[in-house]
Amino acid sequence: MQLHFSPSMRSITISSSNSAGNVNGGGGDLMKIKVASRHISYRTLFHTILILAFLLPFVFILTAIVTLEGVNKCSSFDCLGRRLGPKLLGRTDDSGRLVKDFVKILNQVNSEKVPDGLNLPDSFNQLVSEMKNNKCSSKEFALILKGMMERYEREIRESKFAELMNKHFAASAIPKGIYCLSLRLTDEYSSNAHARKQLPSPELLPLLSDNSYHHFVLSTDNILAASVVVTSAVQSSLHPEKIVFHVITDKKTYAGMHSWFALNSVSPAIVEVKGVHQFDWLTRENVPVLEAVENHNVIRNYYHGNHIAGANLSDTTPRSFASKLQARSPKYISLLNHLRIYLPELFPNVDKVVFLDDDVVIQRDLSPLWEIDLNGKVNGAVETCKGEDEWVMSKRLRNYFNFSHPLIAKNLNPDECAWAYGMNIFDLRAWRKTNIRNTYHSWLKENLKSNLTMWKLGTLPPALIAFRGYVHPIEPSWHMLGLGYQNKTNLENVKKAAVIHYNGQSKPWLDIGFEHLRPFWTKYVNYSNDFVRNCHILE
Ligand SMILES: *[C@@H]1O[C@H](CO)[C@@H](O)[C@H](O)[C@H]1NC(C)=O
Ligand SMILES: *[C@@H]1O[C@H](CO)[C@@H](O)[C@H](O)[C@H]1NC(C)=O
Ligand SMILES: *[C@@H]1O[C@H](CO)[C@@H](O)[C@H](O)[C@H]1NC(C)=O
Ligand SMILES: *[C@@H]1O[C@H](CO)[C@@H](O)[C@H](O)[C@H]1NC(C)=O
Ligand SMILES: *[C@@H]1O[C@H](CO)[C@@H](O)[C@H](O)[C@H]1NC(C)=O
Repeated sequence: MQLHFSPSMRSITISSSNSAGNVNGGGGDLMKIKVASRHISYRTLFHTILILAFLLPFVFILTAIVTLEGVNKCSSFDCLGRRLGPKLLGRTDDSGRLVKDFVKILNQVNSEKVPDGLNLPDSFNQLVSEMKNNKCSSKEFALILKGMMERYEREIRESKFAELMNKHFAASAIPKGIYCLSLRLTDEYSSNAHARKQLPSPELLPLLSDNSYHHFVLSTDNILAASVVVTSAVQSSLHPEKIVFHVITDKKTYAGMHSWFALNSVSPAIVEVKGVHQFDWLTRENVPVLEAVENHNVIRNYYHGNHIAGANLSDTTPRSFASKLQARSPKYISLLNHLRIYLPELFPNVDKVVFLDDDVVIQRDLSPLWEIDLNGKVNGAVETCKGEDEWVMSKRLRNYFNFSHPLIAKNLNPDECAWAYGMNIFDLRAWRKTNIRNTYHSWLKENLKSNLTMWKLGTLPPALIAFRGYVHPIEPSWHMLGLGYQNKTNLENVKKAAVIHYNGQSKPWLDIGFEHLRPFWTKYVNYSNDFVRNCHILE
C-alpha cells in the first residue's frame, strides 16, 4: 500500500499495490483524495491528518475526504458516516479493502515506536516537498507523521513547562513595589520618632495577654500583605475594640513592619509587632530542627537549585510539574513559616488564637470562631477533601505523602482527609497538654534522614501528622481556599466566604495574580497612603 501526494497537493492517492511503479496508472486499486485548495491551508491539512490518523483511525479515510473537500457541515461522525460511508465504501470492494488496510497500518504504527534514525522533516513545507519528490510506503508516511506529532507534542509540553518555570520565579521574586515599601518604611523607622513609638502604647500592654480579647497571630515578611490582613479583619469586625493582632516578622523586616503599624493605626484594635529575634524562647535548643533544615545541603539544592534539570518531562504533566514547583518554594523552609508550631510557647499566657496566613482577606466578623466548641481538640480547621472545587478540595493524605516509604505506609492512612492552614483557631491550653511539637520535630528529623523522600511540601505534612486526633473540622464557608491556584474560582462563593485564601502561586500582589480575584484584596490597600503611592504599588 502506498501513498502519493500530487505535486499540486490537490490530491493524495492511496494505492493498494505493494509493487512500486506507476501509481497513477495502477488501475482499479486507487483511491484519490481530492484537496480543495481554496478551502484549506497546508497547516490545516497537516493537523487534520495528524488528528485523524492517530486519534480517530477508524474514521480517517471518511473524514479526511470530507474535511479536505470542505464538506464539513456535518458535526458528528455519525452524520459523516451516513453521508459518506455508502458513497465511499459502496463504490467498489477495493476501496473498502483499502480503508481496512489503511486502518490496519495506522493501528500497527500506533503501537510501534518511531525508529530513532527516522529522518523527520522540520516543517510541514518540508514534508510536502519530500512527499512530492519521493514516493513512500504508507507505513513510512504514518511513522513520519507519528514522529512529527510526537515532536510537536514534546515541544508544546516543553514550552508549557518553561512557562510554568517563569511563573515560579515570578512568584518567588519580591515585586519592586513591595521591596520599595519595605526599604522606605525601614528608613522612616530611623528618621521618624513616630515610626518608632512603642506598639501598643504602654498602658495597653496588659491586653496582649488578656483572654477576654480576640487574639490573632500573623507571621510574615510582607508588609503590604500584613496591612491587608489586619485592615480587612478590623473593618469586617463587629467588635474591632476586642481585636489584638500579634504580627511576627523576621529581623530584616522588623523596622519597616513596625513603622507601618505605628504610622497607620487601626484603633480601636490593638497591634503588636515582634521580630523573631525578640522571642527569648526561639533558641537553637528549642528549635533544633529548623537550623538543620536551613543548612541541609540536599535541601538547599532542592529549594534553590535548577528545577528543570533532572525532571523527566515525558512522565510529568504540567499540573503535576506545577505542584512540584509549588512544593519547592523557598518560603517552605523559612522560620517564619514554621513558627506556627510554637504558638503555645510564644504566647504562654494566651488561651486561644486565630492564626492567619498573609495571603488571606477577612470579609466577615470572626468573633464566633472563639465561641466554637472544639470538643477538647486543639486545632479548628477546614477539611480539604470535599467541596465543589475538584482540584483545591480533593486533598487527602495521599496527596501530601510518599506512601511508597515504609514509615509513611505503616503510620498513615492515604484516604484520611487533610485540612488546611490559612485560618485556624487554636486552643493553646489544650495544645499545651499534648505532645504535638515533639511529634512534629521527630517526623521532620525522620524526613531529613531519608533525604526528603517522605514528603516535599514544607510545614503542612508534618503538621498533618502531629495534629492527628487533635483537629476539629469547622464549617467550610469560614475559609475558602484556592484563589491563587486557578481562574475557575466561583465568584459567588468568594463573596460569601468569611475568609478567602490566595493559596497557590498567583498571589494578588504579583503580576501573575488573577485579575478578577484581585479586587477582593486591593479593596483593603490604602492607595492614598504616601508610602503606597510613592512605591507605585500595583499601578
Ligand atoms: C522518563 O519516563 C519515561 C516513562 O516513564 C521512561 O520511559 C524514561 O526512561 C524516563 N527518562 C529518564 C531520563 O528517566
Ligand atoms: C541521602 O543522600 C546522601 C547524599 O546525597 C546519601 O549519601 C545518603 O545515603 C542518602 N540517604 C538516604 C537514606 O537515602
Ligand atoms: C518514596 O519512597 C521510596 C522508598 O523510600 C523512595 O524509593 C522514593 O524515591 C520516594 N519517592 C519520592 C518521590 O521521593
Ligand atoms: C480568567 O477568567 C476570566 C473570566 O472568567 C477571563 O476574563 C480572564 O481572561 C481569565 N484569566 C486567565 C489568566 O485565564
Ligand atoms: C489611608 O492613608 C491615609 C494617609 O496615610 C490616612 O489618612 C487614611 O486614614 C487611610 N485610610 C484608611 C482607610 O486607613
